[in-house]
Amino acid sequence: MTAPLRLGIAGLGTVGAGVVKIVRRQAGMLQTRAGRPVAITAVTARSRDKDRGVPLGDYGWEDDPVALASRDDVDILVELMGGADGPAKAATEAALDLGKTVVTANKAMLALHGQALAERAEAQNATIRFEAAVAGGIPVMKSLTEGLAGNQITRVMGVMNGTCNYILTRMGDAGLPYDEVFAEANALGYLEADPTLDVGGIDAAHKLTLLASVAFGTTPDFTGIEIEGIERVSIDDIRHAADMGFAIKLLGVAQPTARGLEQRMSPCLVPLASPLGQLDGATNMVVLEGDAVGQIVLRGAGAGEGPTASAVMGDVMDLARGLTVPTFGQPVSSLTQPKPAQAAAPAPYYLRMTLSDKPGAMAKVATALGEAGVSIDRMRQYQHEAPEAPVLFVTHKTTRAALDDALAAFPATGVVTGDPVALRIES
Ligand code: NAP
Ligand code: HSE
Repeated sequence: MTAPLRLGIAGLGTVGAGVVKIVRRQAGMLQTRAGRPVAITAVTARSRDKDRGVPLGDYGWEDDPVALASRDDVDILVELMGGADGPAKAATEAALDLGKTVVTANKAMLALHGQALAERAEAQNATIRFEAAVAGGIPVMKSLTEGLAGNQITRVMGVMNGTCNYILTRMGDAGLPYDEVFAEANALGYLEADPTLDVGGIDAAHKLTLLASVAFGTTPDFTGIEIEGIERVSIDDIRHAADMGFAIKLLGVAQPTARGLEQRMSPCLVPLASPLGQLDGATNMVVLEGDAVGQIVLRGAGAGEGPTASAVMGDVMDLARGLTVPTFGQPVSSLTQPKPAQAAAPAPYYLRMTLSDKPGAMAKVATALGEAGVSIDRMRQYQHEAPEAPVLFVTHKTTRAALDDALAAFPATGVVTGDPVALRIES
């Protein structure tokens, strides 16, 4: 019989326990498909005593993830601890230095250290596989590096954070407050250990970094992404947007332009009837555009035990079959350094604010917009109790810089109360 592929699993939380369950439940199927057994030889986590919902007695135990990575009976390190630095990075480096390939779901580590780790891997003829790091269960990396390998990719975009999409859709559909839906997302295992990474847009930006690198053959450039989280999106915004035919999504877009590589992650309005507008719960959607294929849309669960473990196992099975692809889809020395575009392309914007309900207030705001060169497409004022009136504008296409000039001029009008909310509308 062909030798088994021996896995060391570092991290037995939501994803790690999910991987152990699949390897145990599907042992026969995996062996048949790979032509060799896929076996776990050793595991690590912080606590040895915690019940993981799956038996672990058959496996060796290491307290130290680096020791796990270094074991002679571990061929592949499956890193599922998380964290950009610390034990995840130390164990990954230890495995790579021994020429072992690493499978990981750790987008934070790769977005920040991917280039150095890929160089380290290639120096030892190893690779890093990270399907689970981007869009959970959706095989987006495989699509880019294999199915679309003959395409020049022109744009990647999508909704890539299950937590944010869950929060935004639940707030809108059930009319539940942010805190309540946040607690639900936590119970479902969607959240990062530091949830500010989710709601701050940083987790999704980590994913966009990796996607853009593989799509455009560029070094991962997290610092080149314009990032805005969902913290300021209110239930009122979700309802007003719906009233005007839009849904609010945390949307990532990366595209090469004449101005450089445009990469942004921000809450945007998308048409309610569009596939992105219809995306509910923790579901993710990734849109890939290539010169030959045109546009393809991938949709699926973006977080949680089963979907993420499924993606990890896709990488493991490739390795068991002897299939390898360079870490970012091409040799690391051939990745080019992207020049960040200084500003996003012009777009219409949704603008919500509260005005003092007195004569001429609306005119003052319209003047401030006009003087900044921002043209109004539509506006709406809702029934309200004086003395404050909630008002919405939809602008014609404008630059973010012009809009920021208008926002900066609002306090001097003396009629805008509180902080206005400005969200890009993506057609
Ligand atoms: P999690 O539930 O918090 O699990 C983390 C695991 O790592 C725990 O078992 C923890 O041990 C272990 N660990 C932490 N520090 C350790 C250390 N110093 N030594 C040994 N073990 C250590 O996290 P998760 O949700 O499974 O996420 C794991 C990775 O997958 C992260 O990179 C995350 O970004 C990524 N990811 C998660 C999802 C998802 O839906 N959850 C989806 C895609 C990607 P204890 O259990 O003993 O504390
Ligand atoms: N916290 C992440 C999310 C997990 O909510 O999408 C999947 O990467």
